[in-house]
Amino acid sequence: MAELVTGISELTTCDPDLGVVPDAAVVVDAGRIAWVGPAARAPEADTATDLGGRAVLPGWVDSHTHLVFDGDRSAEFRARMAGEEYAAGGIQVTTDATRSADDDRLRALVTARVAEAAAGGTTTIETKTGYGLTVEDEARSARIAAELVDEVTFLGAHLVPAGWDAEEYVDLVVGDMLDAVAPHVRWADVFCERGAFDEDQSRRVLEACRDRGIGLRVHGNQLGEGPGVQLAVELGAASVDHVAFLSDSDVEALAGSDTVATVLPGADLSTRMPLAPARRLLDAGATLAIASNCNPGTSYTSSMAFCVTTAVLQMGLSIEEAVRAATWGGARALRRETGDGPDGLGAVGSIAVGHRADLHALTHPAAIHLAYRPGMPATHAVWRAGRRVA
Ligand code: NIG
Repeated sequence: MAELVTGISELTTCDPDLGVVPDAAVVVDAGRIAWVGPAARAPEADTATDLGGRAVLPGWVDSHTHLVFDGDRSAEFRARMAGEEYAAGGIQVTTDATRSADDDRLRALVTARVAEAAAGGTTTIETKTGYGLTVEDEARSARIAAELVDEVTFLGAHLVPAGWDAEEYVDLVVGDMLDAVAPHVRWADVFCERGAFDEDQSRRVLEACRDRGIGLRVHGNQLGEGPGVQLAVELGAASVDHVAFLSDSDVEALAGSDTVATVLPGADLSTRMPLAPARRLLDAGATLAIASNCNPGTSYTSSMAFCVTTAVLQMGLSIEEAVRAATWGGARALRRETGDGPDGLGAVGSIAVGHRADLHALTHPAAIHLAYRPGMPATHAVWRAGRRVA
């Protein structure tokens, strides 16, 4: 059944040929975009939905989250707001709570978090393991994540767990742990940062995963300048995420590479760190993504609208740049911006014929209202693969 969606005051396609279309219409059929253009030229369809003058964007592509966890870190957050510094060690608190949760509870927690993200317009979501940190617990997180989200990343190298020697833990990560998670994941990541894994340890993890045919991502340059960005670029990682503290050569390396620079404004704000230099990265020619980094330690939000608003109000991006980074940019960071995708329903992150029909109708008449009316309800309706999900 084809559905004609009209009443679109402004359609931001994030497609280089189509751009922003005023007074637009879209036809969705069999999970894909079947037609897009000016409403005056729209074909007929089996059913019709009139949005009554609202802006439509591609569904958000949230390329960095940590949804598989139990426990509460609000006391740590409160202490930070009173002047404490963020430290990677908090990950152990969530790891202890996550290990104690049974499978059903963990599944229910992840399901609720995915639904919350979808209600805010997110139609493609990545999530990481990383709060298990034993072979069994990492494999369980990967398996549950693979049931419930679009893209799964192995983050056994999130923290050296309590009681372990770092080198011996890396041996475990690249050995039995990797064997156990490999069937469930498409990506591997490492927290390359002081207090987590150094350059040599990070390289060992990334190379072992790459040699198994797993795509690479890196948590880099979150808490200070460090080797994360250069390592990610050297090893051809699909993205390096956080990128808050960058030298000129880091920016240059990103600009000359296929590695997407993913900024995570929720984490910058929640750790009271400087905002990542998104403007500088774009001006240098780097490819930019914006993601929520939803996790209990540094960014307990899956609101991509909030991240886009922050990027416009405080990181110096135009609304078009911010929306593109949170849709097409996220898709590029997951290598889903072209091709048919694992579900065989087309590319995500932009609206064009043949792409997966992921539409986000705003409550607003234009995308700029996301920043002009910060914090106001933003989502009117969401289609994922042509089906209304919110
Ligand atoms: O992306 N930096 C590492 N991982 C998460 C935080 C994890 C935590 O504190 O629980 C992040 O910010």
